[in-house]
Amino acid sequence: MRILGIETSCDETAAAVVDDGSKLLSNVVASSVPLHATYGGVVPEIAARSHIEVIIPVIDQALVSAKCSWDSIDGIAVTYGAGLSGSLLIGVLTARTLAVANRLPLFAINHVEGHVYANFLTTTSLPGYVLPSHQPKFPLLAVIVSGGHTQLVLFRDHFNYRMLGQTSDDAIGEAFDKVAKILGLEYPGGPSISKKALKGDPMTYKLPISRLPGKYDFSFSGIKTAVLRLAQKEVGKSFDFPSYMLPEALNEAQKANIAASFQFIAIKTVVDKVKLAYQEFRPAGVVIAGGVGASNELRRQLSELNEFEIEYTDPRLCTDNGAMIAALGCFAAEHKKMLADPLKLDIAPNLSM
Ligand code: KG4
Ligand code: ZN
Repeated sequence: MRILGIETSCDETAAAVVDDGSKLLSNVVASSVPLHATYGGVVPEIAARSHIEVIIPVIDQALVSAKCSWDSIDGIAVTYGAGLSGSLLIGVLTARTLAVANRLPLFAINHVEGHVYANFLTTTSLPGYVLPSHQPKFPLLAVIVSGGHTQLVLFRDHFNYRMLGQTSDDAIGEAFDKVAKILGLEYPGGPSISKKALKGDPMTYKLPISRLPGKYDFSFSGIKTAVLRLAQKEVGKSFDFPSYMLPEALNEAQKANIAASFQFIAIKTVVDKVKLAYQEFRPAGVVIAGGVGASNELRRQLSELNEFEIEYTDPRLCTDNGAMIAALGCFAAEHKKMLADPLKLDIAPNLSM
């Protein structure tokens, strides 16, 4: 079963071809990140416009790179939620049109669930990709850490899962992005904070960990405010000092120490709960999904637990991509799930798992 996956939920226009849910034949991503950089976050209108401009060339490239013609594609999988409305619309309308024109089945994919399936890709002839040696086993603990979601999900099998906990406010990636903005580091915040943190000491400042009633729930809005207050205090100003003036007022050592302290505690919050969940449910596998899965600090802290082995996927498959959508699409086709009407499929910007 060979599926073309299309992903346009945020600022990446992505398409990929995957065979049988495990073989990555192509993975093409055009990012509009540089266009948003000066604004410190994604501008929805700019993202949507950029998707319109590049989606057809991206899909063409995905087919060429996979050495596939339309005749050898068995179905199309597309992200229909969650995400930005304008961005989702471009992907969904394109996928619907291509499904009708090529008489192919269409699979409606939940973006967040898709992230988990990046970990099912185990072989490729694409240069430079390092993939897991085998597919994860069930029951599977999925640690979903992205710009829009932070959740722990226990999969009993494909399409059969239980949400253990999730964030009640900001996602962890969102916290990275907001703290980066406070420190004047470039968007997206994950990679720029990681880089800055290398020059800092994570033990310089003690930032708070939010305690929540749900054992596996998260909250990241408190830590973001704590960083703001800390930065204002460090430059000797009161709490009404405007945040946009902080990047100039803080020196490089202060920025590095704040970045390192924030990164350490934000990641520790997740890692502590992964450990708890592992000890309670003893899953056969653990996978990390979503953009923050590319974090070296996350990988370091998880390996220090010494509780379980994780085979990480390539960082390019952690951030948004079409391959994860195509991979889940293959399992959807096999299990006859998520089939959508190409004449009717609508977007679901607030879709949850
Ligand atoms: O999964 P993703 O590409 O998009 C969403 O579904 O949200 O995740 C994007 C998030 C951003 O918040 C970004 O700052 C974060 O992933 N991110 C990272 C790294 N690369 C991307 N966070 C920490 N370390 C990284 N290397
Ligand atoms: Zn994502």
